[in-house]
Amino acid sequence: MLYLIGLGLHDPSDVTVKGLQIIKTASRVFLEAYTSILGVGKDELEKFYGREVMLADRDLVEQNSDEILRDAIDNDIAFLVVGDPLGATTHSDLIVRAYEMGIKFEVIHNASIMNAVSCCGLQLYRFGETVSIPFWTEGWKPDSFIDKIELNLERGLHSLCLLDIKVKEQSIKNLMKGNKIFEPPRFMSVVQASSQLLEALQNRQIKGISPKTVCVGLARIGSPSQQLVVDTLENMSKVDLGKPLHSLVIVGEVHPLEQTMLNIVCKTETK
Ligand SMILES: C[S@@+](CC[C@H](N)C(=O)[O-])C[C@H]1O[C@@H](n2cnc3c(N)ncnc32)[C@H](O)[C@@H]1O
Repeated sequence: MLYLIGLGLHDPSDVTVKGLQIIKTASRVFLEAYTSILGVGKDELEKFYGREVMLADRDLVEQNSDEILRDAIDNDIAFLVVGDPLGATTHSDLIVRAYEMGIKFEVIHNASIMNAVSCCGLQLYRFGETVSIPFWTEGWKPDSFIDKIELNLERGLHSLCLLDIKVKEQSIKNLMKGNKIFEPPRFMSVVQASSQLLEALQNRQIKGISPKTVCVGLARIGSPSQQLVVDTLENMSKVDLGKPLHSLVIVGEVHPLEQTMLNIVCKTETK
């Protein structure tokens, strides 16, 4: 059996009781290590579970999933995913591959940024499509996520923007030379995301967005150091929310109760 087990958002103790029981008895345990991170590393997880955990990078999951699934017909394999295994990270390829190989699978759910974002006071049913903001480079500035934010705003809906993560990336030079040398991991901050949106605004009109648009910056949700800041887009591009992970919400129409909650739970950094 393949078990896809959600780890929740912060530390080893966020795993569910059901998830922990499976991790303790599975024949092999993999930790998916490229779509999100916990506030702790693999060592702390191993200490908490009392057993070895193998890191699964994008290559292993997307190109060599048979290595993860080998012997899963007769044995239990635990595949650990930060947050919820199906929350903004579907891993459907792995599920489809398991299905094709005749391997049963089960998903053990947990908290996800997709629902924990409601801690800022905005109500989940007033969110539109979630978008992902990629790191821009000098010559590559894809902005299709902006069209989706525009559509959400047209309907008065909030947009949860998930921010890019680059783990185990090679520089073009090392890629071309075939050197297995990897760049340090990078996690997009609220400052970078808002700056990219402001840059896009200089090049095109974005319906419903201006530097004065209200946004919420969220950092390390679910951890004791979590931060929530409500402010304008232009101010958000100057607010340092510290260590990753960060998310950004572009706020749509605000219900009075949401406004009260925003005032209670979010700080305003700059006024
Ligand atoms: C691809 S999503 C993975 C979602 C994960 N499977 C889940 O269910 O939460 C990763 C992105 O979600 C956001 N994110 C995840 N956890 C977060 C947290 N604790 N605080 C703030 N943002 C978070 C970040 O923008 C991060 O780059």
